[in-house]
Amino acid sequence: MRRDMGIRVLDLCCCSGGAGVGFRDAGADYVEGWDIVDRPRYPFAFRQGDALEVLRDVAYLRTFDFIHASPPCQAKCTLTKGTNAKLAGRYVDLYPEVRDLMYASGVPGSIENPSSRPDMVLCGEMFGLGVIRHRKFELVNWSAPAPEHVKHRGPVRGWRHGVWRDGPYVAAYGNGGGKGTVVEMQDAMDIRWTDVREELTEAIPPAYTECVLRQFLNA
Ligand SMILES: C[S@@+](CC[C@H](N)C(=O)[O-])C[C@H]1O[C@@H](n2cnc3c(N)ncnc32)[C@H](O)[C@@H]1O
Repeated sequence: MRRDMGIRVLDLCCCSGGAGVGFRDAGADYVEGWDIVDRPRYPFAFRQGDALEVLRDVAYLRTFDFIHASPPCQAKCTLTKGTNAKLAGRYVDLYPEVRDLMYASGVPGSIENPSSRPDMVLCGEMFGLGVIRHRKFELVNWSAPAPEHVKHRGPVRGWRHGVWRDGPYVAAYGNGGGKGTVVEMQDAMDIRWTDVREELTEAIPPAYTECVLRQFLNA
């Protein structure tokens, strides 16, 4: 690791920076986010562009200590497989190419995607958050023991098949059916710097990537 420049993290498919804030909280000195869409709320250095183009520039990748990518999950996520199955063909699955390019770079990192190898499976209850939001992290070019999953305290609150279920967790996805409000999602994930619903529904809670980078730095 190049300690002379501090810890540098590249955050690909960064959206408004849930993952990025977690890297900063774990001790990263420089976090640089890339997204295909302009994300003016991203709280660190932001570049608009295609993650695959960035991943093809190996010399650039090697200026970073850690690379993270959250390629969009719509191609494989539970909602697309179930309720919105007819939409699945519209989404491109970036995961295979992102994975191949990240391994080939030799730089350590993580990929968060439904197709990721589940080296670390994190959920909000592990960090005392108000969401369940299971997310799989594949550790690229390094390894660490998987943290223990913890028992949930109850259901996610909202309507399911016409029945209201109360519970300690906010439904931080979609619309209607008792899904969380913007403020509830902000509180539940500890994300205060964006109030854009789409960004909140896509966000990785910062506690997750803080955990991943801390494990890497300890390893
Ligand atoms: C699941 S969200 C990422 C969540 C984010 N890591 C966070 O912590 O909040 C996926 C993001 O990938 C972006 N995206 C989609 N295709 C992309 C591409 N080819 N290159 C870069 N970003 C892309 C989307 O605009 C979206 O913001």
